[in-house]
Amino acid sequence: MTDDLYAVVGNPISHSKSPRIHSLFASETGEPVEYTAIQAPLDDFAATVRQFFGRGGRGLNVTVPFKEEAWTLAERRTDRAEKAGAANTLYLDDDGALTADNTDGCGLVRDLVQNHGISLKDARILVLGAGGAVRGVLGPILAEHPAAITIANRTVARAEALVALFASAAGATCLSSCGFEQPREPFDVIINGTSASLQGDLPPLSPEVIGGETVVYDMMYSLQTTTFNRWALEQGAQNVHDGLGMLVEQAAESFRVWRGISPATAPVIEQLRND
Ligand code: ATR
Repeated sequence: MTDDLYAVVGNPISHSKSPRIHSLFASETGEPVEYTAIQAPLDDFAATVRQFFGRGGRGLNVTVPFKEEAWTLAERRTDRAEKAGAANTLYLDDDGALTADNTDGCGLVRDLVQNHGISLKDARILVLGAGGAVRGVLGPILAEHPAAITIANRTVARAEALVALFASAAGATCLSSCGFEQPREPFDVIINGTSASLQGDLPPLSPEVIGGETVVYDMMYSLQTTTFNRWALEQGAQNVHDGLGMLVEQAAESFRVWRGISPATAPVIEQLRND
């Protein structure tokens, strides 16, 4: 019997950890999964998707820069993908419809809540950034019923647009937008969803947003402490995490969507830290 075929599609893709993560899940669960990495041409993502499913592929993960295109291409979207405006998971539904899901927000919340024991309920949360990465995680964060979410962004209009988009889902959560310099009191949780560190930049936050109890989570990860987390540590933060756990958790949720089995993530996170 041949293994079922899965892959991650992006451009560039050679540094993706997804093949490693999913092969660890496959070994752990005994599922017949083969998972590869595919670099799609920047101008022909749709053809890559068509070819993959045309030759019997069972599921795709989608990464930069194709998540929005995957969302547009899909014939059907799960509720969480609909709200996220981007898809990181594709599969053919029972009737053959190309279906988009988004497991990023679920991955972030699971890493914070289950792996790090941080409750978001009634928390006052500062979210940095207002691009696709942040839009993808706001729904699952709101579902934890925080007291307030402040979205701070370089371009304040984009933060305002996200507040408008999620206002109806916010329920009792107070949602607001501002620039980076504006917040001046400590938050319970700060989540960095900007791509500033890719350019070696830091959002110009006031050090006053970090208190003794503030939990800092950078959705980026790297072998060394991320630029943002280094800054937070220098301001006295005691509880600082990078996005490796989120990466493994979003992968585990995709695996569950495709295979109906939730792999254990703790050994995989540990393995990746030691790779
Ligand atoms: P992604 O899918 O990673 O969210 P994106 O939609 O391009 O990509 O969004 C990138 C986010 O990082 C945005 O919030 C962006 O701020 P702007 O909306 O003002 O562009 C933020 N960002 C990128 N570079 C930054 C920098 N050097 N300093 C601060 N914020 C930055």
